[in-house]
Amino acid sequence: MSDTTVPISRREFCGACMASCATLATFVTACGGSPTGPSASARDLSVIQGQFANARVRVTTAGTPLANVGGAARVESSAGLFLVSRTSDTTFTVIDGVCTHEGCTITGTTTTEYVCPCHGSRYNLTGQVQQGPAKANLRQYASTFADGVVSIAV
Ligand code: FES
Repeated sequence: MSDTTVPISRREFCGACMASCATLATFVTACGGSPTGPSASARDLSVIQGQFANARVRVTTAGTPLANVGGAARVESSAGLFLVSRTSDTTFTVIDGVCTHEGCTITGTTTTEYVCPCHGSRYNLTGQVQQGPAKANLRQYASTFADGVVSIAV
């Protein structure tokens, strides 16, 4: 058996490493910086405070994205976090605001999906998983609307 090992200098070895690292960085950047990161197309949800009393969280829509059909917001309350979207003049969808994958607060939205910032899971507006790693859907809550206030049954 012949020995085919060719000795190289430290300078040659480090030069090869630098070239490999530059190539890897190019690939990572081309993929959006992280192979599991959320898409840059998602924007941050507005945050609204909800008032919890008598097993309901009440959210005033005036002056918020929920004042208009198609608007969405994250509602914070002492009863939890909710993702609320307005589907018509009088109806809303309300789902849990905590990702079922590892419990991150969901902060991003597109026109049709909510996006978790931690590992990129996506849910539609009724909480069904559209893209993992999350496997379980978000819980949906019943709501009513009157006098400019969404009332979420929790
Ligand atoms: S915690 Fe949301 S995708 Fe991992």
